[in-house]
Amino acid sequence: MTTALPPDEVRRVTCVGAGVIGGGWVAHFLARGYDVTAWDPAPDAPEKLRRLVDAAWPALTRLGLAEGASPERLTVAPALEEACAQAQFVQESAPEKLELKRDLLAQLDAATPKDVVIASSTSGYPMTDMQTQAADPQRLLVGHPFNPPYLIPLVEVVGGRSTAQWAVEWASRFYEVAGKSVITMERELPGFIANRLQEALWREALHMVANGEATVKEIDDSITEGPGLRWAFMGPCLTFALAGGEGGMGHMLDHFGPSLKSPWTRLEAPELDSALREAMVAGCEEAADGRSIAELVAERDQGVIDVLRATGRLPGGDAR
Ligand SMILES: NC(=O)c1ccc[n+]([C@@H]2O[C@H](COP(=O)([O-])OP(=O)(O)OC[C@H]3O[C@@H](n4cnc5c(N)ncnc54)[C@H](O)[C@@H]3O)[C@@H](O)[C@H]2O)c1
Repeated sequence: MTTALPPDEVRRVTCVGAGVIGGGWVAHFLARGYDVTAWDPAPDAPEKLRRLVDAAWPALTRLGLAEGASPERLTVAPALEEACAQAQFVQESAPEKLELKRDLLAQLDAATPKDVVIASSTSGYPMTDMQTQAADPQRLLVGHPFNPPYLIPLVEVVGGRSTAQWAVEWASRFYEVAGKSVITMERELPGFIANRLQEALWREALHMVANGEATVKEIDDSITEGPGLRWAFMGPCLTFALAGGEGGMGHMLDHFGPSLKSPWTRLEAPELDSALREAMVAGCEEAADGRSIAELVAERDQGVIDVLRATGRLPGGDAR
């Protein structure tokens, strides 16, 4: 039996770990009108977090803020226990290291009131592997976002072996109320759904750079000028069904099925040695063509807003 607060009555959210993703969550929850408490052990975390929220706020304002939403409603707590004491929901976004996540989730469990759900932003660890040290693992689950969490709608929700069904349902509903688009997974899968797909593409991109088969810019252009345009509104399966013409997916599979067995993709990751690292960093600098990270972030944010609006997923009006 749970005494959890109904998801639509949540007013106070705690974000633990305030880097790229934790900071993005902070910006999202602030824009949706929540009081947000953040905690991050890095000495420079509060300034970095304020910079991230300040950079995101113009895009969030153009999108439309919830009533009363304000960056002033962010509190940075000096200690984890203080951050969690009044929490009505906790989002963990600490570094992707299994031992660290295990310890941290146990600490969060000890510091957070009973029946408050604690979600991890992990990119790929199953919750079953992370909830092993918590005294009350039933309210621990994965809420996997995409960067930046304040603009990309998707969250993948999945529990571990010790997670209660009520917690999974509660979190799915809470994220929806908080403006996210939710996929609730029935079973655990390392990397969840979208990261398994992203990873396959990414591995192949690294192989092509490592072997001098394509440049970073060619790889990026091949997606933004090609399949990426379709994927923003129609997924890879339905777009391939159209590749079969009037015969749809059936014809597509009969026609191109044999090439699935030809060696178009390498399933093992390439060795991430210093030469490949250097080639990727230099290639990205060339592709950025003088634009700073902050300029690219602003460009990406506007691009996502434009796509969301153009595909009917935002209310009308001027988003510039
Ligand atoms: N970057 C992405 O695109 C992305 C997307 C989805 C999910 N994620 C996941 O989000 C999580 C955070 O990734 P990120 O990219 O924001 O990393 P990041 O390095 O930008 O931020 C991690 C933050 O955690 C803080 N930290 C270090 N030790 C901590 C501790 N013990 N407790 C709390 N905070 C601690 C660091 O000071 C840092 O600010 C990871 O689990 C990652 O897999 C990342």
